[in-house]
Amino acid sequence: MASTQAVQGAQVLVASNRGPVSYTVGEDGSLRTKRGGGGLVSGLSAIGPEAGALWVCSALSDGDREAVRRGVGEDGVRMLDVPADVHADAYNGIANSVLWFVHHMLYQTPLEPVFDAEFRRQWASYEAYNRAFAEALAEEAAPGAAVLVQDYHLTLVPGMLRELRPDLRIGHFSHTPWAPPEYFRMLPDDIAGQVLRGMLGADRLGFLTRRWADAFTACCERFAGGLGDTRIGVHGLGADADFLRARSQEADVKERMAALREEIGAAPDGGARKTIVRVDRTELSKNIVRGLLAYRQLLEDHPECRERVVHVAFAYPSRQDLAVYRDYMAEVRRVADGINERYGTSGWRPVVLHLEDDFARSLAAYRMADVALVNPVRDGMNLVAKEMPVVSDTGCALVLSREAGAHEELGEDAITVNPYDVVDTARALHEALTMGPAERTERSKRLAAAATALPPARWFLDQLNALRDGPGDGTAT
Ligand code: G6P
Repeated sequence: MASTQAVQGAQVLVASNRGPVSYTVGEDGSLRTKRGGGGLVSGLSAIGPEAGALWVCSALSDGDREAVRRGVGEDGVRMLDVPADVHADAYNGIANSVLWFVHHMLYQTPLEPVFDAEFRRQWASYEAYNRAFAEALAEEAAPGAAVLVQDYHLTLVPGMLRELRPDLRIGHFSHTPWAPPEYFRMLPDDIAGQVLRGMLGADRLGFLTRRWADAFTACCERFAGGLGDTRIGVHGLGADADFLRARSQEADVKERMAALREEIGAAPDGGARKTIVRVDRTELSKNIVRGLLAYRQLLEDHPECRERVVHVAFAYPSRQDLAVYRDYMAEVRRVADGINERYGTSGWRPVVLHLEDDFARSLAAYRMADVALVNPVRDGMNLVAKEMPVVSDTGCALVLSREAGAHEELGEDAITVNPYDVVDTARALHEALTMGPAERTERSKRLAAAATALPPARWFLDQLNALRDGPGDGTAT
């Protein structure tokens, strides 16, 4: 397959740091494949390798590198084995510690950020990493092919690829927020310029919401002399309703529901306890700790909720190579344990916290949710906010941060919170818990409809068509 593509070239290419598959080496030395989930994976499967599409991604683990070394791979996927230290600098050092922090506005002065010589060294790796992608794409693409580059790991690729292959149609999509100029200018001037000019090498740039697109445009106007010929489009990735509804009916999800019911227990009157559910990567921007503090405030303000409500919080490990993420995970555990110690009784654990990734258990919690809590300090979209109303069995009320991209589409039927305000978040949780069943069902239906308005496959095809159609397409501004 890869050799056919090398001869004829692919018509459609996707490039992203994390690809659709990953590998682990088993004890017997065999390679095991793990298929990733998420919008991009299901979006691309609508195109498929048989349509000549090729996904270029990075080897992320030792298993992935071993797969590349042994020539093991999937049709339609090319994994790049960039040296592990270069990848670590680019991914951990620049993408996740600098660009992610800038766009999510996570830095905390006076200690951060410091752009020192070490940063410059890592930046050189980020450039090398982006160049490896640009070269692979240039090699694999058919004349005039469409290339869709994904996210903040690969901001330099459009510009580099444009130089190598001026014939290509190049798109880039940001799955994160974009920082406003006043925050973005924190980056060293030359680096900020490189990022913007790199992106502007694309014919078309996609964002999840108008707010992030406007912030990008404002940065270009301030620091790069405007957008030039590059077009901007907004594509609000939605939940994949068909997949989620079918998957959440499977046996393993039902088993997890039974286990969760055991953990949650029954209210003193024998009735079901109400659940406040959250599911996140343990990610600083997701604001898990303030969510727990808001729940503690709820138990203080409304003692009648004690024994009758459980906060089901799944905080899955993410980016554990970074100390700040490991510390955050420890803090989540500490605060949850503190609440359980302070308020728990022999028959009631106020917080049911799970820290090991388990997709079936996430779906089980979605189905059982009375209230969904999604309170990021800043988030490109937040698909959990879109998935829970689709999957919940009885319709859930949604407490949603006004700083999540999803708020632009779901704000009307959600209960909106300022993510920094834990007293107000506690009030919102109470409002959600006490919402009448008829109102909750109605709102949840409208939330589910809005959440599924742009399913992943269409999200992808819309961008592809807009890129191919060239200037003057309907969604560009
Ligand atoms: C965000 C980013 C994605 C990234 C995902 C998981 O959604 O926009 O590009 O893949 O987080 O993070 P990770 O670092 O594990 O790939």
